[in-house]
Formats: sequence, C-alpha cells, structure tokens
Amino acid sequence: MKAELTENILNQIPDSVRFNQDDAAALVAHQSFLLSLEDELVKGFYDHLYAHETTRKIFTDDEREAREKTLRDWYQRTLSGPFDTHYWEWQTLVGLVHIKRNVNNAMVAGMWGWLQTFLGQHVLEKLPSEEALKVIKAVHALQAVVMALISESYQRNMFTAVDKAAGLNEALLYRLVSIEIDEMLAQAR
Ligand code: HEM
Repeated sequence: MKAELTENILNQIPDSVRFNQDDAAALVAHQSFLLSLEDELVKGFYDHLYAHETTRKIFTDDEREAREKTLRDWYQRTLSGPFDTHYWEWQTLVGLVHIKRNVNNAMVAGMWGWLQTFLGQHVLEKLPSEEALKVIKAVHALQAVVMALISESYQRNMFTAVDKAAGLNEALLYRLVSIEIDEMLAQAR
C-alpha cells in the first residue's frame, strides 16, 4: 500500500487525539509486564473466535497454532515499537490479508474491544493507576488508528476496483450511495 494513502488516512484524525509518542512510550515502558500477559491474551482471543460459529468458520481445522503465532508476533512487534510508517502500512496489509479470508471489520472491531478490556483490566490491577491510564489511552489510540487504516483503505480500494471494473469513479459512486442513503433515511423517519 502506498505511503501517501497511509499518511492521508492518519491525517484524518486530529493530531491532538491521534496515537502519539507518549502512547508509544507508555507501551514500551510497560513492555515486560504486557508481554507477561501474552499467553493468556492469545488463548483468550482464539477461544472466543473458535467458540462462535460465524468466526469459527473462518478457520481451517489445522490452523489454530499458526494463527496464535501470528497474533504473538503482532503483539511482540507492537510492544517493541517503533510506530513508524512501516508499522502503519503493515497494519493496513494485515487488514487486506483478513479481507482475503472473509474476516470482516465487525469481527476485527469486536476482537479489538475484547483486547482493550483484557489489557485494561490487567493494567488496572497491577500498575499504579496513573501508569495504567497511560497504557489504556495508548491501546485505545492504537485501536482507533488501526481500525481507521483498515476500514478507510478497504473503502478506497473498493472504489478503485469498482472504477476499474465498471468505470464508475469515486465521485459518482459517492453520489449513488448518497441517493441510496437519502432513501433509507426517508423510510426510517
Ligand atoms: C485485534 C484484531 C486482530 C489482529 C491484531 C490480528 C492480527 C493478525 C495478523 C498480524 C495476521 C498476519 C497477517 C500477515 O500475514 O502479515 C493475521 C492473520 C489472520 N487473521 Fe487476524 N487479527 C485480528 C483479528 C482477527 C479475527 C477477528 C479473525 C477471524 C475471525 C482473524 C483471522 C485471521 C486469519 C484467518 C489470518 C490468516 C490470513 C492468511 O494468511 O491466510 N483475525 N491476523
């Protein structure tokens, strides 16, 4: 994915709330404590996905070990930093890899919610509250950026694909979607 697209999506989020150096520092400062949660985090994450029929169907029967490994790698890399363009581009790529496997944004957003609660509970139990709040803020800001990259890049890539296949450019497609939304709103009211 092009660096400009990543930059452009990141720039949609106000600087004042976007994941920043303080957030990166909070994660790296508590790296060893957060890493001590890795086994429980990875197990819990996949227990939930495997226990739910819709998400279970995504996986082949022999896949769990490999999936746990990719989540471990992601967690370790995330807690090491740096949060540079390369990292953000990788997050977008992970989004595309998910799309190819029919993992949709609802599934990913749901698991981010679980991750945030899991980490929040543990840091509040073990760290001084001021430090715990820094980590919680960092995890929330990270989630916001990653979901922004995944969802926006998906939409923009879809616009490009539709334009290529059907000759409908982005502006026209927006217009059609807007008309559709007007109808839906009129029906809903
Ligand atoms: C917080 C949410 C999630 C994170 C951080 C995450 C992270 C990752 C990462 C880092 C990879 C490896 C991508 C690569 O090849 O570079 C991956 C692959 C994969 N993830 Fe996730 N994931 C998340 C949610 C989910 C969910 C909700 C599902 C299923 C319902 C899922 C299913 C998969 C599958 C099937 C692959 C393998 C794709 C392939 O290579 O064929 N993930 N994920």
